Amino acid sequence: MDMANEYNSSEMAIEERIRNLLAEMTLEEKAGQLNQVQWNGWEAFDALADDVRAGRVGSVINLVDRAAVDALQTIARQESRHGIPLLIGRDVIHGFHTVMPLPLAQAASWNPDLVRDCARISAQEAAVTGVNWTFAPMIDVSRDPRWGRVAESFGEDPYLTSVMGAAMIDGYQTSDPAAADTLLACAKHFAGYGASEGGRDYNSTNIPPNEMRNVHLPPFKAAVEAGAATFMTSFGDIDGVPASGNEWLLTDVLREEWSFDGMVVSDWESITQLCTHGMCEDEVDAALVAAEAGVDMDMVSGVYSAHLPHLCESGEISMDRIDQLVGNILRTKIRAGLIDGDRLDQQSEEPARLTALAVARQAATESCVLLRNEMDTLPLSSDQISSLAVIGPMANEPAEQMGTWVFDGKSERSVTPLDAITSVLEGQAEVDFEPGLETTRSHDKTHFARAIEAAASCDVAVLFIGEEAILSGEAHCRADITLPGAQADLVRAIRQTGKPVIGVIMAGRPLALGDVIEEFDALVYAWHGGSMSGPALADLLFGRAVPSGKLPVTFPKVSGQVPIYYGHKNTGRPPEADTVIHIDDIEKGAPQTSLGMTSFLLDAGYEPLFPFGFGLSYTKFAYSDLHIDRHEMSEKEMAIVTATVTNTGTRTASEITQLYIRDRVARITRPVRELKAFRRQELAPGESVQVEFRLSVNELAYYHRDGSFQAEPGDFDIWVGGDSRADLHTSLRLLKA
Ligand code: GLC
Repeated sequence: MDMANEYNSSEMAIEERIRNLLAEMTLEEKAGQLNQVQWNGWEAFDALADDVRAGRVGSVINLVDRAAVDALQTIARQESRHGIPLLIGRDVIHGFHTVMPLPLAQAASWNPDLVRDCARISAQEAAVTGVNWTFAPMIDVSRDPRWGRVAESFGEDPYLTSVMGAAMIDGYQTSDPAAADTLLACAKHFAGYGASEGGRDYNSTNIPPNEMRNVHLPPFKAAVEAGAATFMTSFGDIDGVPASGNEWLLTDVLREEWSFDGMVVSDWESITQLCTHGMCEDEVDAALVAAEAGVDMDMVSGVYSAHLPHLCESGEISMDRIDQLVGNILRTKIRAGLIDGDRLDQQSEEPARLTALAVARQAATESCVLLRNEMDTLPLSSDQISSLAVIGPMANEPAEQMGTWVFDGKSERSVTPLDAITSVLEGQAEVDFEPGLETTRSHDKTHFARAIEAAASCDVAVLFIGEEAILSGEAHCRADITLPGAQADLVRAIRQTGKPVIGVIMAGRPLALGDVIEEFDALVYAWHGGSMSGPALADLLFGRAVPSGKLPVTFPKVSGQVPIYYGHKNTGRPPEADTVIHIDDIEKGAPQTSLGMTSFLLDAGYEPLFPFGFGLSYTKFAYSDLHIDRHEMSEKEMAIVTATVTNTGTRTASEITQLYIRDRVARITRPVRELKAFRRQELAPGESVQVEFRLSVNELAYYHRDGSFQAEPGDFDIWVGGDSRADLHTSLRLLKA
């Protein structure tokens, strides 16, 4: 039998298996498969066991006790009528026991292979506890850093998010999602959650069709193409229709346009929240609306198991619709090797601790972004330092450096920056540690004097500042995204000592650093780098590794610039540097129209502090010889773009070359720049390499309001370089068909 038939036969076998199971199941048992309950500890085990035995539970969330998982799976398989095992779900977002850098930090590596490796290790560690489903990747495009969940996103760009999301899915699921050391992935939060108004979590999202189609949906479409087993609905209402009751999103787009045949889980009680939103009258109404919209599984609200049976008996929802929902869950369980497969009889192994830590260290190293390095302050020469002051409230915080979403993270695995620096300088130089502040939020300057004294008596001061983990993540949003507490004052106080000041910022979001950036001689953005953030930073600070990270989000100068992102529209009155005046420079009595009538802020201009894609190195890279093999192209052809990248410095280092386009004229205006490709490569000093990119009509197309994906004939700008301001330019004309 050739593969095609074999595939058909296995798919046919799955559908036949589903039909056979559905034919044998009662309505209550079907509703049970749609029901996810939370683990409430051993004291509640017996009641849960009874529900599993009776077929009232399809999944358990937040259970990581292998003994309990084995006991419940045994009951499900051997004591329930149909022997359907459970999905065991957990937020394995960026690591499990070994914590990897935040997803936002991983995106800064621009290294999909590394993101895949991080997810692979996380899956292997989690699977040992019996977990078989993670609620990741979070692929909400995030353009508002006030929103705490930017920490778990891959940033502001749809293409980078799509690439990283697909890599994470592959790391969790691999090509064999039935293997015992894999986790089913979950593309979340579908959709548009990152557009929560005002940067406040759970808030309304008012997303115009063009932005929904071209910014927020593409990563989810890429997730379907990457084989994501499951999707999760977002909490938000989308232009008045909450995602968990949104038939256009869950059925028209996900099922009919994209042919997704996995399963959709609600977010935590987001079905009952349809009443809170004001979309539904009561829980019965919410269950009906969510089921008809296309939510297959109810995360912990209990309304499906409580109300769908009698809604079906009364004819308000058809048995066919119930069977579709249950069928999606059964299909997912079959593909995960849970039904008929031998997944549960296989024993997965925890990855070697050293292997896990090595991946975590590499990821932390590649995710750090060097934002400033005046006079090549970095790297430090450990043999030329006799004393080093380690200052700041984030220098020695094993739990804080792990960041948000680390329910299972083992802080004892963390190596802090203080630990790592002390180890590197042991026997060579004195290390004087003074936190200066109790926490990143503290305003108590009592210990400033000791910090100042430490810095003044040392050759160089390294400040570890930023945000504690609790200041980002779900429901943790900030209006003022400057350094919290008195940290900026601490930086200024250390600056006053006259010693070289190196900043390391450990945070879960881009911070507005406009008022403090000049105080640093050098600045490394480490995000929350996970278990091995310390050794990674020590390697970078002392030149054992070279920074290669690039920003996956734009950094504003001040909070009031938000939202600010590179892929913006040109507007009818774009600002130019020479047409922008600062509020302090306005002449008294200036006439109303004298300030230039363009799109900028009087007190903040229009440019960010650091642009998307930006990151420095300990060497320099030059771009030249941008060439395109044709300046005209039909829709059926492809253009080949090449450029030369040269390492003009003295250190071997990696560069991430980026390609951006601009569709100059389109009936729906297009962004001034769009990332369409990138390539990471290592170059030796003096080495030049030619980078090649291929552009097809797909890279030039965009989604129209009717959902069609097509390019408009006309001229396109193309840039290649090291960040979103790349100025090496060529052009391409797409000919009329
Ligand atoms: C949370 C989050 C979601 C998470 C789920 C389960 O509220 O929104 O991302 O996966 O509940 O913990």
